[in-house]
Amino acid sequence: MTQSADKLWWKKASIYQIYPKSFCDSGAKGTGDIQGIISKLDYLKHLGIDAIWLTPIYESPMIDNGYDISDYYAINPDFGTMADFDQLLAEAHEHGIRIIMDIVVNHTSTEHKWFQSALGDKNSPYRDYYIWKDPINGEAPNNWESKFGGNAWELDEATGQYYLHLFAKEQADLNWENPKVREEVKDVISFWAEKGIDGFRLDVINLISKQQDFPNDDIGDGRRFYTDGPKVHQYLQEISEAVFQKYGSVTVGEMSSTTLEHCQQYSSLDNKELSMVFNFHHLKVDYPNGEKWTKAPFNFSQLKEIFNHWQTGLNGKGWGALFWCNHDQPRIVSRLGNDSEYRVESAKMLGAVVHMMQGTPYIYQGEEIGMTNPGYTSIEQYRDVESTNMYDIMVNRDKVVTHDEMIAILAQKSRDNSRTPMQWNASEFAGFSKAQPWLEVASNYPALNAEAAVDDKNSVFYFYKQLIQLRKDVDVITTGDYQDLYPEHSAIFGYKRQSENQTLICLNNFYADQAECTLPVGTELSKAKVLLSNYEDQELAVTKQQVLRPYETRILLIES
Ligand code: GLC
Repeated sequence: MTQSADKLWWKKASIYQIYPKSFCDSGAKGTGDIQGIISKLDYLKHLGIDAIWLTPIYESPMIDNGYDISDYYAINPDFGTMADFDQLLAEAHEHGIRIIMDIVVNHTSTEHKWFQSALGDKNSPYRDYYIWKDPINGEAPNNWESKFGGNAWELDEATGQYYLHLFAKEQADLNWENPKVREEVKDVISFWAEKGIDGFRLDVINLISKQQDFPNDDIGDGRRFYTDGPKVHQYLQEISEAVFQKYGSVTVGEMSSTTLEHCQQYSSLDNKELSMVFNFHHLKVDYPNGEKWTKAPFNFSQLKEIFNHWQTGLNGKGWGALFWCNHDQPRIVSRLGNDSEYRVESAKMLGAVVHMMQGTPYIYQGEEIGMTNPGYTSIEQYRDVESTNMYDIMVNRDKVVTHDEMIAILAQKSRDNSRTPMQWNASEFAGFSKAQPWLEVASNYPALNAEAAVDDKNSVFYFYKQLIQLRKDVDVITTGDYQDLYPEHSAIFGYKRQSENQTLICLNNFYADQAECTLPVGTELSKAKVLLSNYEDQELAVTKQQVLRPYETRILLIES
């Protein structure tokens, strides 16, 4: 692809996330692969996306589906070969689609050769690549908790020391204080940049710098001692200067439990650290008191507040990724929408809500056809390490919930809700594979699949296609400021985007009953036109009083 001179191409772009294991199996293995992705490039081109974010395809024991990398320079044979990868890159570029790779450098797999050398040997040249501590009173060095449950330290019996793992015990945290680790990271990223990769998504990148006294946390799980840690900005600037700026890579950092102030700096428009950031605050509106592992409705007013905070806070100061779904989040249409009676309407409405904001939208595979949670009813159907760990801890170890309660919680919160195989067509296994898939396909695939969506002009697919195109055609979506119009409204999420000569008003009914609102004073009704809506019989004339049907979205544009 001839790379456009416009270094800021990503501001008007939409990015499509592929979780390769669940995307498309070119053979009969039951797991997706790189050739499967290549076979779907025409489909992605038809959707109109600009780039693919590919979740990890490196060599890995797959304890955390590739987020546990054992060799940064090799392709996992389950996905194919380096030749397959080179072919994907070349063919994607021929289709005008860029490729963004996922880089996981907060930790490596414990099967990585560095860790294998470090384990059990205090004199290994790689010992200091990881974080080792002596026990305190015969126990773990502190009470930090792993994000996947349990203590964050694991004992290395041969040396009597513990290593830190903020995620699974098979994912050992790298010691970024060691300059050699930072050099290795630069080498890894340069290797892929040299191949012509267009950008990088940096996994949990705001956790790389830990407070070096590793204190006990009396009031929490330890995250305040390593989240947006003391040297994180310094490290990012170092990597950015050495690699990202040199290759002109677009970068998006995954920021766990972060703050607006830090994100303004990570993504500050001088490009010293990253191009943009993912934050997850808007996806915690169904975590009452911060607790994920409970079945709960979502808090609608909090959702609006959070978007307002981030949209106004990043405007002119930084750049955010816009998203509802990824491989760690349940399907949005099942979560905030209505996946039974109003699946199509609510999937479109939710798409409009984030795509009309400032930032770069990320569409997770299957979101563009309105895929739903699968509604698993048995623990045997789950594969995700976090879900199975939490089941063991909450049901068996701590006995805080019953089996049935945990099944209901997982059906709402498990990461496997979004990892079910992509539903391509109505044939067996949804056309994902010729063999039984590694994770069960959702049973609604005979009617809900990509082939049916592409054949139906009113499908969620074509609505997303329009959203993607609107970002390119209507400048105010990229440049306008943001105002929450009805923060107190119990059903409508409405906001206004304003630039010098364009006003965009995005009205969204989040519920199954009709809802009303009044357009803001000063709206020039005679100039207002309906840019997009999810109901076919949309009135063309815009009136001051707006009545929205169930899950209706209406996007108005006023040009002066
Ligand atoms: C990120 C990934 C998630 C993974 C974790 C540890 O949050 O998105 O899938 O489990 O990091 O690498």
